[in-house]
Amino acid sequence: MLKIKGNYFILETNHTSMLIKGDGRAEYLYYGERVPDFSGAEWLSPEVYWDGAVHPLSLFLQAGRGEAREPSVSVRFADGSYATDFRFVRARIVPRPVLEGLPSAYGEAKSLKLEFLDEPSRLKLCLYYTAFADSDAITVCATLTNGGKKPVSVLSFASLHLEVWGNDFSFTTFDGAWASERRRHTRPLECGKCENASYIGSSSAFHNPFVLLGRKGDVYGVNLIYSGNHREFAESDATRRTRLVTGINPYQFDWELAPGETFFAPEAVMVYGKTDEEVSERMHEFVSRHIVRGKWKDRERPVLVNNWEGTYFNFTREKILNIARKAAEAGAELFVLDDGWFGKRDSDTCSLGDWTDYAEKTGGLESLADEVRAMGLKFGIWIEPEMISEDSELYRKHPEYAMKIARRDPQRMRHQLMLNLVDPQVQGYVFRAVSRVITMCKAAYVKWDYNRYMTDCFDRNTRGGEYFHRYMLGLYSVISRLVERFPNVLFESCAGGGSRFDLGMLCFMPQTWTSDNTDARERTVIQSGTAYAYPQSTMGAHVTASPNEQTGNSNSLQTRFNVACGGVLGYESDLTKADEAELDEIRAQIAFYKKYRSVLQFGVYHRLGDALNGEWSGFITIARDGSKAVSVIAVPEKRTGELNLRVKFAGLDENALYSVKYRRADGSFVPVCQAHGAMLNRGSFALQNLFSETDVRSCSNPLYTRLFVFEKVSARKKRS
Ligand code: DGJ
Repeated sequence: MLKIKGNYFILETNHTSMLIKGDGRAEYLYYGERVPDFSGAEWLSPEVYWDGAVHPLSLFLQAGRGEAREPSVSVRFADGSYATDFRFVRARIVPRPVLEGLPSAYGEAKSLKLEFLDEPSRLKLCLYYTAFADSDAITVCATLTNGGKKPVSVLSFASLHLEVWGNDFSFTTFDGAWASERRRHTRPLECGKCENASYIGSSSAFHNPFVLLGRKGDVYGVNLIYSGNHREFAESDATRRTRLVTGINPYQFDWELAPGETFFAPEAVMVYGKTDEEVSERMHEFVSRHIVRGKWKDRERPVLVNNWEGTYFNFTREKILNIARKAAEAGAELFVLDDGWFGKRDSDTCSLGDWTDYAEKTGGLESLADEVRAMGLKFGIWIEPEMISEDSELYRKHPEYAMKIARRDPQRMRHQLMLNLVDPQVQGYVFRAVSRVITMCKAAYVKWDYNRYMTDCFDRNTRGGEYFHRYMLGLYSVISRLVERFPNVLFESCAGGGSRFDLGMLCFMPQTWTSDNTDARERTVIQSGTAYAYPQSTMGAHVTASPNEQTGNSNSLQTRFNVACGGVLGYESDLTKADEAELDEIRAQIAFYKKYRSVLQFGVYHRLGDALNGEWSGFITIARDGSKAVSVIAVPEKRTGELNLRVKFAGLDENALYSVKYRRADGSFVPVCQAHGAMLNRGSFALQNLFSETDVRSCSNPLYTRLFVFEKVSARKKRS
């Protein structure tokens, strides 16, 4: 709901309100838990100092007005000056803007548009606030339009500048590296700035764009609908204000805005909640309803088997078909042929760009796919379209397609270079190549990989300061055309694991490979960190071999499944090596997953415990009608002699009576109790026999897990 009442502008969602005032300047007066009205709003205004100065909660900060902090918008004019004086002009309720070339949220028709003008230069700044009532999210789209006669260089232009009263906040970020993505870090925001940013061209495993600003009782979650270099920072100061800023990273950014042109910043989203939990729940709703789109939006995702960790590059047609046969027998629905099927790809040193069948190895990809389909499976394929190997036909024919700088030896990562997707000709090549592959093997699923950082950025027709962003525009243009051309294909985005897990990619591809680290112990941390911002239907999670390929930890098949069922389930090992007992166990797991798939993928998700530092952690996901739920509890360590480890559930229907049971490895269930949701949400429960029942005889560094199922037996009559 958007309202304009004189100089006051109100945004309301089901549980939150925002009040902005525009009067010469524009400022936030309130953002938090929903209030019934704004009587007394004049009291929310900032104090006027003895010298007449005021320090309001700003919607942006600009250069040249005596501001002591870094501007969120900064430009250089043709005369070499930097100062602007954007003044508030007016507010209107308008149709939501279309962000040229950028992914954005959908599902709301109107925005509150606030216009600001720098009169001397005729540079116009517009902020479009949209309220997504059902998910308690507010988004901002920011634009800069050059109404003057000379070009203007945009040096930084944040998408969102949120400011709140108080300097008692902490800043939480989700950081890591390859195979250890999105580990939560929280630090108090004392004086000064704390940054969370990417400099490598993609949103990165190092610092996810999702961040939290929190204190007891108030938490603000912010994310950016963008997959490139981003920067968030939080800052508290002596004026008792804290700000949270997100947008394109100004690093190597210098965008020339010609007269009449508009620059569109990526859309940013903010969510308020009283706790981290509430923010996560609202973010999940926002992502599920307003980011993920297309055929697969609310559709149950297939259980897949992928050959990568089972074979790496070393496979034959026979091997692939044998794995697929086992997959079909176990009840999987999709087989994915990973890296190694094209060009002469027997290692990662060659062939990227040659997206033609490696027939000597596959025995003919078309017929291989047909044979897989004849087993009752859908066929999916891996591709890494943004890359080029120097040892490839494509490079020999079109060395100019590669991203590199003349007379410089390019940086190679995993032996490969990137394609210069800024060039429309290269975009056209990628679109055609991917289309051909999908058509050739009638793929029902595509895993879109991206395995390096962006370096050696150069395009002869592009200003250097525009390269990173123009790359993203080129990528989005190719992907959006492909998604439109192949609306039935399920795309999973991947970047050396989870290095591009962001809202930009999720606008096109409904799921993301969460991490190359498939160890159950490590995955509890990675998945729980990821789930702060992203729902379980977006997280690819596979059961792989034990000992784990990345860590050497070994775990029971049961534990590996219990952890992987917290996302979109797959298996990724050489299933031909599994014995009958293991195959039976996998068959039972897949049957269980299918039965509870709608709740596992689309239920309301709550994190339990603390995966990073706690004695136990886990999740519970609850059907939207409250009728059933599945919870997995993971205990990282057996402390011999210590008793009474206790766990707590959350989110169950307080008035409903549930029967609770837990699942054994063979698929049978052990009844635990019947209890009302109220008790299950508040009590501290014993994990009876967890350690003695987990078979860890051949495990090293095992994780102890238990999967609970809750089924509603009846609803308690409410007292009249
Ligand atoms: C990195 C991905 O994350 C893996 O799952 C796998 O697809 C490899 N690339 C293949 O090269």
